[in-house]
This record gives sequence, structure tokens and C-alpha cells, in this order.
Amino acid sequence: MKSQTIHQAPHLRGEITVPGDKSISHRALIFSAISEGKSRIRNLLLGEDVLGTMRILQQLGVKMSHLPGEIRSGETLIVHGTGLHGLRPSATLLDCGNSGTTMRLMMGLLAAQPFESILTGDRSLNRRPMERVMNPLAEMGARFKVEHKGGERFITVQGAKKIGAGDGKNFHLPVASAQVKSAIMLAALYAKEETLIVEPAPSRDHTERMLAAMGVRLFKKGNEVMVKPAVKLEAIDIAVPGDFSSAAFFLVGGLIVPSSEIVIKEVGVNPTRSALIDVLREMGGKLTVQQPRMAADEPVADLVVRSSSLRGHDLKGEIIPRLIDEIPIFAIAASQAKGRSTVSGAAELRVKESDRIAVLVEELGKMGASISEKSDGFVIEGGSKLKGGTFNSHGDHRIAMSCAIGALTIGNSSVISDIGCVTTSFPGFFDFLSQLTS
Ligand code: S3P
Repeated sequence: MKSQTIHQAPHLRGEITVPGDKSISHRALIFSAISEGKSRIRNLLLGEDVLGTMRILQQLGVKMSHLPGEIRSGETLIVHGTGLHGLRPSATLLDCGNSGTTMRLMMGLLAAQPFESILTGDRSLNRRPMERVMNPLAEMGARFKVEHKGGERFITVQGAKKIGAGDGKNFHLPVASAQVKSAIMLAALYAKEETLIVEPAPSRDHTERMLAAMGVRLFKKGNEVMVKPAVKLEAIDIAVPGDFSSAAFFLVGGLIVPSSEIVIKEVGVNPTRSALIDVLREMGGKLTVQQPRMAADEPVADLVVRSSSLRGHDLKGEIIPRLIDEIPIFAIAASQAKGRSTVSGAAELRVKESDRIAVLVEELGKMGASISEKSDGFVIEGGSKLKGGTFNSHGDHRIAMSCAIGALTIGNSSVISDIGCVTTSFPGFFDFLSQLTS
């Protein structure tokens, strides 16, 4: 297993552009695949999760200008859309690897195709809950069979010939989840009637923005989205903004490492994703948002961050879905802040790439932070001096990168073990770190 030694950083200084947004990259590929005509995707994230989505779409007969392993950073991908009804069954398994977004969005799409498909994933993904997607899609008429063989899970999706037949369907989701919402929205494109989805709190809205840009009629109000059946999706050109979730590691690094100043260019700052900006500012972080603009129907800006003294903060309620992926790096910021921080109402963290509550408590505890576990979050008493050691990613990319940022503040060196997972979302992360510390 690959590991990485991290030394105390004298500073983090410089200007960087982080790779493309993971959520938007998946959507750009999947929606272009069923559009009509040629879509051009610039700055696609070339992380393992997104390459997995590309591979699966190619298995389903979608033609692209590059194979997953062959596209290089800076190149534009051209996707030749098959139209809504042009996908073909794959003779082989569809392997979603570590990617929940791939599995859940593909389930939504495959639920409406008149053929059978079999999906699987790696050990982590095969343990994650899929009933939340299968149940609504089954209500729309798709059929699922789940088989477990020695730690592996195979999910057969038999697409419905008439998805969502009968009256328009209404779904009230028990948890706010953009993956579940997007899966239902994909199936709803093929329905005869409109479909209404209501979430307990708003989740990221990249699907709504991109489908609307492709000509789908949908109506969004607060936590609700209503999708009309589609006749076709128009191919569009998509410039994927930098991933806010990747930028978040450097935002916190820049705040907690002394003598730092980092400029991060062209970051997606969609308000349904970027609540960490407000939180870090409320904690006393010197963080500015410069040149806000729109790119591919998404808000984008340059972010500037400087070393700051932070205060503790309580995270709870409707803000949680708007920063769910940033809670591991928030925990690192909280460990360096003055006073207590709490996270509650975030039980979803237990079903991410790892049980992020248990894993954060274990790894931050090893670092010497004062952290205690709750069923739906944790409590951190900030200000402990962290100590070096070996910290384990537990195969979770966001835990690996959060531990690496925490380790930058530690006097002696640390080792982060099992770092291969970082390539799922942020290939080149450790190169950016050495660029900023030199
Ligand atoms: C994602 C939605 C979130 C997030 C995940 C990406 C997406 O998951 O945690 O990393 O691209 O839609 P949930 O929908 O399960 O909250």
C-alpha cells in the first residue's frame, strides 16, 4: 500500500488551479451521453471515479474521442450523444469502483432502459446503502436483484419499458441526497408524466442546472424539484469548474499553517456546495471570494486565503448537505481553533466512502486532538498541539487529504498510509502540496 511522509510546512504560498469538479464531471458525461449531437467537455476531472463513469458509458455503446486512460489534462473530451434511446446493453459487468455517484446515477439511467445491466463496485462501495435509490426507482417500475458473493455485491437492474407509468410520481426523500435526487430525475426524463421530488433540505443542484441548460423543463422551488418528461437533451459545451471540495483542503491549510497565502483560481462556488466558505469566515478565517462569474451555468470565483486565528463553530441543520464532503477538513480546522466545535445531524457521514465519524475520531485522536464521537457527529475541543505519527486513510480519499493537511502543522513528521484512494477525486494532490510548501 502506498504511503506519504508529510513534514511540518514553513508556509503554504502560491497560486493554484485545482482539477475539475467531480460531481459536475460525472453529470457532464452521463447527460452528454444521452443528448443529441456532440458535446465538448473541457477540464473534465481525470480522477478514478470519473474515469469509471466514462468506461461504463463506453460499455453501453457511447462513443467518445478518448479512452479513459488516454485523455490527458488540458484536452477536451468529445462525447457523441446517442440520444435518449440509443444506449445498448453491456455484455460485461459495469464496475463503479469506489464511486457512489457513478452507481447511483447509473441506476437512475439504467432503470429507464429496456434492457438488463449488472452493477458492482469495490469493497467500500459494495457496503454502501443502495435501497435509497432502488426503492423509488422500483416504484417507478424498474426491477432490482441484489446478490452477495464473498464480500462482493452485484446489483441487476431490469429497466422498465414504461418508467413511471400511470400518474405522475411524488417522492419525499428521507435524507437530502443529490445522488438519489439525480437518479430519480434521470429516470423521470423517460416518464410519461411529470415527477416531483421533495428533499428534507436542499442538496447540490448541479443536475438541475445542467439538465435545464440541455433543454429539460424542470421547476425548482426550495427543497422541491419537478421534472417534465423529455423529448430530447441538446448537446452543449461544458467547461467544468475547479472542484470546491478539492479546494477546501487548501483553504483550511492556508488558514492553519502560519505565514500562508494561497490563491485558488476558477473554483466552483455553487451555494449548494460551498457553505464551508461562510463557516470558515464565521470562524475568523481570512478568506475572500474574488471575481465571481458564471461558467457553464455554475458560479465560479477565485478564492484567496491567509493564515488566521480561528474560533470554534457549531455545524447543524440545513447547512449539513451543503458541506457534507467538507466535514473531514472542517474537523482539522476545528482542531486548530480556539474553543469547542460540534457537528450534529450528520449521520450521513457514516455511509460515505468510510464511516467518517468513527474514522475522524480515531485518526484525529491519534494526532492528539480532543475529539469525542456522537451518533450523528462529533465534538472537538480545539487548540490541542497535534503530534506526529502514522495516520490511516481507511481507503477514503477525503480522510487521506484531511490527515495530510493536519500533519502540515505538526513539529515532527507524519506518515499517511493507504493514499492510493486520493486519485479517485484529486490526482496530483501531493504535488500541489509540495508546490505550495517550497
Ligand atoms: C454527490 C452527492 C453527495 C456527496 C458526494 C457527491 C453528487 O452524496 O457526498 O460526494 O455528486 O451528487 P449524497 O447524495 O449521498 O449526499
